[in-house]
Amino acid sequence: MRPARALIDLQALRHNYRLAREVSRAKALAVVKADAYGHGAVRCAQALEGEADGFAVACIEEALQLREAGIRAPILLLEGFFEADELALIEQHELWCVVHALWQVEAIERTQLRKPLRTPLNIWLKLDSGMHRVGLHPADYQAAYRRLLATGKVAKIVLMSHFARADELDCPRSEEQLAVFEQARQGLAAEVSLRNSPAVLGWPQLFKQQQASDWVRPGIMLYGATPFEGEQAVAARLQPVMTLESKIISVRELPAGEPVGYGARFVTERPTRVGVVAMGYADGYPRHAPTGTPLLVDGQPSRLLGRVSMDMLCVDLGDLPAAGLGSRVELWGKNVLASEVASRAGTIPYQLFCNLRRVPLLYSGD
Ligand SMILES: Cc1ncc(COP(=O)(O)O)c(C=O)c1O
Repeated sequence: MRPARALIDLQALRHNYRLAREVSRAKALAVVKADAYGHGAVRCAQALEGEADGFAVACIEEALQLREAGIRAPILLLEGFFEADELALIEQHELWCVVHALWQVEAIERTQLRKPLRTPLNIWLKLDSGMHRVGLHPADYQAAYRRLLATGKVAKIVLMSHFARADELDCPRSEEQLAVFEQARQGLAAEVSLRNSPAVLGWPQLFKQQQASDWVRPGIMLYGATPFEGEQAVAARLQPVMTLESKIISVRELPAGEPVGYGARFVTERPTRVGVVAMGYADGYPRHAPTGTPLLVDGQPSRLLGRVSMDMLCVDLGDLPAAGLGSRVELWGKNVLASEVASRAGTIPYQLFCNLRRVPLLYSGD
């Protein structure tokens, strides 16, 4: 069997969830959209269900997958509904629903849900406080709130917004967004949900006034990766959940001056032992990772050599005489941080995890 695989440590996932709750002092929706950032949404939700206040996904298809697997906890649809006829399913499966646009307010006003409503809707009303992606304009926010309550179809409204630059710890934009949010929600007595992972980890000073009834929405931190470029004290307490590993399937002894891999992007400078690993960009390892990207061979630091192929990549065994056929290679995980590999490859750990495919996910710590 091909030795490429991703080990998923559910104990670490629970540790990270607890850290999110501890440092935020709020309720926490575990963000498990995009198949739990590649970690397997059903298994991750099952591992957290005993303690999570709820889950967040991107769309109803992802929510129904969790419901079909028996997850009964609250599930929030982060983009709400895309078409009005999803409202019947939202009601039937008791999903919580973001409303981020006026057309969605109108759709709720017009839609005929069961009468009397078995489960009135739980709406998270999203404000565009400055990210300018989705969310209601501040000038429309209070009117939308009142219109939703007036429908009689809504049990509860949570006031919500999203930060664009909370991962930049010296950037004033989050503070500005918070001020826009506070202004827009003046006089509305409702629970609040603002913080993603970087805001939970990096901006405690902005949320001194927050209530225990407020909600945070941690995603990447649950999976143990930092959202920040550099080191950060609270992020250092995260435990990586995924270890991407494989084995060496071939060894080459090359003299100096020999090219390695497609495009001859690496040429040996001295006699070099090169190990070939069963892992490539078709598994989600980034093709743009350059020579020198760190990895471990049998627990020893080593580096990537040359271009990553579809199914294989090459590593330097020059300083590892004991390593050879069958040696275990950690591409990222507990020792080689995904954020470090991502940064070398010009991307972010979010994308590394979401790009994972073909490799089996093997779980521990249930
Ligand atoms: C609305 C919303 N909340 C929370 C999150 C989680 O963000 P993070 O993974 O940075 O914690 C996302 C992720 O994209 C999101 O779109």
